[in-house]
Amino acid sequence: MSIHQIYKQLVPADILTEVLNQVEADPDWVKDNGIAPLRLYTTIIKFPKIKEIVDKTFPELELKIENKIYFQKYPVGGVCKDHIDPSRITVVILIQEPDRGGFLSVEGTEAYLKAGDAIMFDGTDHHKMTPVLRGQRISLALWFK
Ligand SMILES: [Fe+2]
Repeated sequence: MSIHQIYKQLVPADILTEVLNQVEADPDWVKDNGIAPLRLYTTIIKFPKIKEIVDKTFPELELKIENKIYFQKYPVGGVCKDHIDPSRITVVILIQEPDRGGFLSVEGTEAYLKAGDAIMFDGTDHHKMTPVLRGQRISLALWFK
């Protein structure tokens, strides 16, 4: 089963700003893509209620949210090769959109996301990100199992 759903402006502007402030305040962990600190997880998970939205979208799946959030920061030239996630549903939230490039593609369909938008898709769908051509791209990923 292949599912994609885009949620426009899921994350309010003030939360985006708070997340970006946390990113700037923590140069040690932001230099590597990986698991974001609990502080960031707490910020992003309380607004909006992502778990509730996922449950409403996929009521039959009885999903559990993984207790982590994956942070991804891509400078110019940054790319993410085709892969699948070890999740049932993945939610990617765009925190900062690049000026050019850096499009997420799920099963060959490109998603045009703005900062604050989120996309949900089947974790077993092949997905990748085209190279960032200008600016930088910051996103967060949550896994539901
Ligand atoms: Fe992924």
